[in-house]
Amino acid sequence: MNDAASSASISPRLEQSLARMGNELAQGLVPLWIYNDGDLHLAEQDRIFGQQWIFMAHETEIPDPGDFIVRSIVDDRFIIVRGDDGEVRVLFDSCRHRGASVCQGERGCVKAFVCPYHGWSYRNTGELHSVPNGQVAFKTLDKEAWGLRPAPRVENYAGLIFASLDDSVAPLVDHIGDYRWYLDLHLKLSPGGMEVIGEPHRWYLDTNWKSGSENFSGDSYHTQSLHKSVVTMGLSSPAAAGASGGGNDLHITECNGHATSIRRKDPGVRHFWGYPEDVSQHFKMEGLSDSQKDLAERSVVHTGTIFPNLSLIHIGLMDAPGKPECAYLSLRQWNPVSPSRTEVRSWVLAPKEASEEYKAQAYKVATATFSVSGNFEQDDSIAWAGVARSAGGQFARKQGLMLNYQMGLEHMSDARVLKDWDGPGVAYDSNLEEGVQRTFFNHWHRAMTRPEREHVA
Ligand code: FES
Ligand SMILES: [Fe+2]
Repeated sequence: MNDAASSASISPRLEQSLARMGNELAQGLVPLWIYNDGDLHLAEQDRIFGQQWIFMAHETEIPDPGDFIVRSIVDDRFIIVRGDDGEVRVLFDSCRHRGASVCQGERGCVKAFVCPYHGWSYRNTGELHSVPNGQVAFKTLDKEAWGLRPAPRVENYAGLIFASLDDSVAPLVDHIGDYRWYLDLHLKLSPGGMEVIGEPHRWYLDTNWKSGSENFSGDSYHTQSLHKSVVTMGLSSPAAAGASGGGNDLHITECNGHATSIRRKDPGVRHFWGYPEDVSQHFKMEGLSDSQKDLAERSVVHTGTIFPNLSLIHIGLMDAPGKPECAYLSLRQWNPVSPSRTEVRSWVLAPKEASEEYKAQAYKVATATFSVSGNFEQDDSIAWAGVARSAGGQFARKQGLMLNYQMGLEHMSDARVLKDWDGPGVAYDSNLEEGVQRTFFNHWHRAMTRPEREHVA
């Protein structure tokens, strides 16, 4: 990150509010206004989205040379492209002549990007290839210096491509940290790994991006209420989205700033999120420990958030009552557009070795459940819109309204830390606790208040 960007300042009023939040968070309190505030939105752009690792794409979206897709980090639009040399690059979609966008489509396969304004063309590696009338008008132009500008850092973990706008950010593996123990359960089940099925869906919500991130950290509490109709209609088993508090539930908190909520079957029960045997027979789980294998085998549903805005849900659901469950992994991203508007993108993934029929059904079930038209998604989006609406006015601020994130604090619920848990992070023996969401906000708070250029891994 250049000095101008890293030194972007925020108002003394906002600094004071953020400073107060340390104490408030320790008590399980989160001020309502942070879900819709213009100054905070700008500060998050600098201190979070300008400095952290941000998910851009899955490598199976661009398998061949020339394949590209377009994604944004807040307002910055990037082309994620596999060059003719096989390398994946994340290129800022802005012509070096006058700044026009050089890529008009959302995805495709090209040899070159040609700027529509004056016709400069760039190879799919980002290099400047030619400029019209170059022999007479740009005789001494150093083409090597005028290629599309790449994101300063791009790294890949198990097929997940991340970029950072900060060239001094710690390596991606340090950012994911011990959370790899849980992430690997989803990405390394079969030798071929997971593959993106069909088009990712994209839509907009009238909400703040943090509502998605904190919910998917593990808000198990809302399913029995907000999603009750889905269970009642027979579109989800109570085990996957029903009542909370079973003895096989886990909440993993404070795992490098990331969190996850897990529901398991009893010991010894082979379930694998509901994948049928002809899919799960491919789960060799190479490189996973016995504890990870046991957890994967007993898994019913996982949700989680990798800070700041990449969430996941791995679950078995159906697209019509009475039909068999179909398991899939959905990655979803909450990209802030404004303080009260979020661009959501949702990817459906299935094990590479699964049949084409299975993948087609997984995409259909995911579309019916966790997508713009999905029944779960519709429920969530209505609740979250209310959060941003109530946060954006004068009342929340003037009253100093606090939200209650206290479930699971020592004095508040029966949830207890599992002292003998084999995995990383702090594990609770119940999903009736909100340490998962406090994890998100603690990390958010560290990122928003840390001294300049001191990175939170
Ligand atoms: S702005 Fe792209 S060629 Fe002029
Ligand atoms: Fe939900």
